[in-house]
Amino acid sequence: MDELEQKHQRRKRYKGTHPKSFDTKYKELQPEKYTETIEKIIQKGNTPAGMHRPICVNEIMDFFQIEPGQNGLDATLGYGGHSLEMLKYLNQQGHLYAVDADPIELSHTKERLEKLGYGPNILTILNMNFSHLEEINQDFGPFDFILADLGISSMQIDNPERGFSFKTEGPLDLRMNPKIGVSAAERLKTMTKDEIEGMLVENADEPYASQISQAIITEYQKGGLLETTSDLQRVIKDALKFIPKNTQIEEIKKSCQRSFQALRIDINHEFEALFELLESLPNALNPGGKVAILSFHSGEDRLVKKSFQYYQRQGIYKEVSDGPIRPSYEEQNSNSRARSAKLRYAIKA
Ligand SMILES: C[S@@+](CC[C@H](N)C(=O)[O-])C[C@H]1O[C@@H](n2cnc3c(N)ncnc32)[C@H](O)[C@@H]1O
Repeated sequence: MDELEQKHQRRKRYKGTHPKSFDTKYKELQPEKYTETIEKIIQKGNTPAGMHRPICVNEIMDFFQIEPGQNGLDATLGYGGHSLEMLKYLNQQGHLYAVDADPIELSHTKERLEKLGYGPNILTILNMNFSHLEEINQDFGPFDFILADLGISSMQIDNPERGFSFKTEGPLDLRMNPKIGVSAAERLKTMTKDEIEGMLVENADEPYASQISQAIITEYQKGGLLETTSDLQRVIKDALKFIPKNTQIEEIKKSCQRSFQALRIDINHEFEALFELLESLPNALNPGGKVAILSFHSGEDRLVKKSFQYYQRQGIYKEVSDGPIRPSYEEQNSNSRARSAKLRYAIKA
């Protein structure tokens, strides 16, 4: 039996019309094959499973004004939506380097972009954390444009195996690279109540941080385990039963979202990585080089703003965006994830 046939047999098949689990939903795994369905989902303002819709594409491209022959860096490749646009402007001349901390989605994106005609002659994809910008710059820089679209992609959220969402049952992992560091489940076990509370407040402004952190510690003391996304969701739900019934469901949902975000930021060291990136940016840009950063969290936006302003005062950036640029109303209406996006830019002197 050849290799292809063996793979075919191993793949789980779903016979019904309403697939229940991720690995039986072919659409999640090969969204390109379902263009009609995808169009309908996008028109409704949702993101089709297995895909990610790039945000502020026009605003970013207008700012970059990419010309053929330039050298660029996409610090957060994801599904490759922004990279694809940048590549179109390069028109097969110059080079785009693209990195992502996530080795799983990275290989899918590499394959997809190669099929679209963007191979190693024009595009180099590396499984790296953008916190290593200094090394990336030494090897491939300096750059004419750099983009960082922070956070995680819809594909990562959609895949229950990754544990990024409380909406589906999966291991409480939340690592961008599951081979590096510890899972969220492991991390939580080692934390004190104060540490959990601090993490929820600092990383997500969680108003019920005290109640949730206490409930997590009590769960461990009772001998309970928080191994899955549903385990954590259940503990949060129980902790917030005191909220009046008329707002309880909505409040619990928001607290779950914030708690998962706080954990994700913590175990992936997201603030530290952003800080490293911001510190290395001035050296990694050519004179006149441009950087754009899309953030989805007030803490991230604050860090970006402070760094851009600091280096502007030092005369290193000749221009920085006045305030955050927000996606258009049309984009916010057509893509719910765009609603919290803030774009800032800087231009090196
Ligand atoms: C919002 S998505 C980017 C989507 C992308 N712009 C697109 O158009 O498809 C963010 C991506 O950045 C990656 N990422 C987040 N933090 C990172 C870091 N510190 N280093 C490298 N990649 C990172 C995530 O794994 C994810 O794939």
